[in-house]
Amino acid sequence: MKVLLLSVVLGLLYAGHGEAQLILKPFSGEWKTHYTAASNKDKITEGGPFHAYVRHLEFHANNTVDLDFYVKSDGECVKKQLTGERQQLLVYHVEYAGENEVTILHLSPDAIIGSIHNVDEEGKETDLVGVLSKRDQISDLVYQKFKKETEDKGIPEENIVNFSDNGNEIILSS
Ligand SMILES: *[C@@H]1O[C@H](CO)[C@@H](O)[C@H](O)[C@H]1NC(C)=O
Ligand SMILES: *[C@@H]1O[C@H](CO)[C@@H](O)[C@H](O)[C@H]1NC(C)=O
Repeated sequence: MKVLLLSVVLGLLYAGHGEAQLILKPFSGEWKTHYTAASNKDKITEGGPFHAYVRHLEFHANNTVDLDFYVKSDGECVKKQLTGERQQLLVYHVEYAGENEVTILHLSPDAIIGSIHNVDEEGKETDLVGVLSKRDQISDLVYQKFKKETEDKGIPEENIVNFSDNGNEIILSS
């Protein structure tokens, strides 16, 4: 996985704008949220904007990425679709529940770990870390990497929400 990540990063370093997206393109597809951590836990608990069940990512050649996900609000699932714009190598800007800077920290064919710096409409800042996977379960190694990233951001362990068992329920009720 490290080798793959390294080759992706090297590829991006040598690639121009459009080419960088072509390298990310194969990572498009069905992805599911497994864990999310946040410095303000109310952002990721039910009713919070980042209590989000990711379903699909599509990387485009024009430096944008489309993201499909669900959030639960008053017990109902609401489908959301957002577009992010690439700002730097692996950094996207996304408008949602305020302004977000999204950084891809780890990338492999079946796992993405990303961080989000959110500034909400009231100016409150929140750091989030999330792990998405194409599989039903993530490996211990990926989970340890995710935990390390949460620790590096100073997010306490009790602010990690486990999304891995209730994704299917969303599909059924949507
Ligand atoms: C980027 O490309 C996608 C897919 O072709 C398209 O749907 C979208 O409108 C484009 N966005 C911009 C800003 O050009
Ligand atoms: C997260 O939930 C899944 C499904 O219920 C479970 O298998 C897994 O052990 C949980 N992870 C942690 C770290 O507790």
